[in-house]
Amino acid sequence: MSRGLFVTLEGGDGSGKTTQAELLREWLAGRGREVVRTREPGGTEVGVEVREIVLHHRGDIAPRAEALLYAADRAHHVATLVRPALERGAVVLQDRYIDSSVAYQGAGRVLDAREVRALSEWATEDLKPDLTVLLDLDPETARTRLDASRTRYDRLEAEASEFHARVREAYLGLARDEPERFLVVDAALPAGEIAALIRARLEPLL
Ligand code: TYD
Repeated sequence: MSRGLFVTLEGGDGSGKTTQAELLREWLAGRGREVVRTREPGGTEVGVEVREIVLHHRGDIAPRAEALLYAADRAHHVATLVRPALERGAVVLQDRYIDSSVAYQGAGRVLDAREVRALSEWATEDLKPDLTVLLDLDPETARTRLDASRTRYDRLEAEASEFHARVREAYLGLARDEPERFLVVDAALPAGEIAALIRARLEPLL
């Protein structure tokens, strides 16, 4: 049905997703493709409001409520922005998607990973990415990078290092389970080298 290409970027906080998405956008636009750059949470007006709650609410949010908030953001985003763009033939370049929920709410918050995934599959009517780039970085390096660029941490970034270690392991497990969908890149490499690896994997899909 969809004629476009759905590419998602995943990784821990501070892994460099935004830099890579921007480099990829320039390259694709240079090849004459319509590119839609978006993110979760917060890719739509409704999503911006949900993002404010999940990232900046003071005090706890019950893990299941958090999972539902991310899924609600995702449902609206896919229905109103991502699917229409794919149907037009665009390349959608998206920071974070279902794998983020499986890693952060599943392994991080310790909810059942299959249930977390099932919730998002329902929310998106089972829309799957064509390619998922995992920018893999050890949590200590990621933390050093974040410290250099942030004055305050959001709710997830502020979690303890064991949380981020679980998230990383969950991501690597997802990539092992679906090697045909994932490209795992060492996020400690220079940005230009990472971009070249991503372009090489994407080229045949275009
Ligand atoms: P993001 O905007 O990508 O922040 P950053 O640029 O710092 O990586 O994501 C915000 C946070 O939300 C991030 O810590 C991961 C978290 N998150 C989840 O826990 N579950 C989800 O489903 C998504 C999409 C994000």
